[in-house]
Amino acid sequence: MYKEEILEHFKNPRNKGVIEKPSVRVSVKNALCGDAITLTLAIRGDKIEDIKFSGIGCALVTASASLLTEHLKGKSVKILNDINDTFVLKLLGGEITPARIGCALLPLKALKQIKK
Ligand code: FES
Repeated sequence: MYKEEILEHFKNPRNKGVIEKPSVRVSVKNALCGDAITLTLAIRGDKIEDIKFSGIGCALVTASASLLTEHLKGKSVKILNDINDTFVLKLLGGEITPARIGCALLPLKALKQIKK
């Protein structure tokens, strides 16, 4: 059973969509299930002015992308160096079964593709 916050972000995902003419666009696929997610970012100077996600995914990947984009929006791009697996799992409440870790970390995997 997921935390209430995960279900809430799944039902009402924040920052879902695609930024027109983004500064950065990255996509990843979960090889185990075939779900895929794309992140688009609008970066001005060193600030993440906007970030959105799109794609097909389960409740967990959707909640993870929603929480993560909410956290990153408006921050310095330097924050991308500090975001890691532990941080994302904590953001999701920390109770993710090993079988679902790939879902939870898929948006982070996309973020890690961004060349800084
Ligand atoms: Fe596909 Fe979760 S089942 S990303």
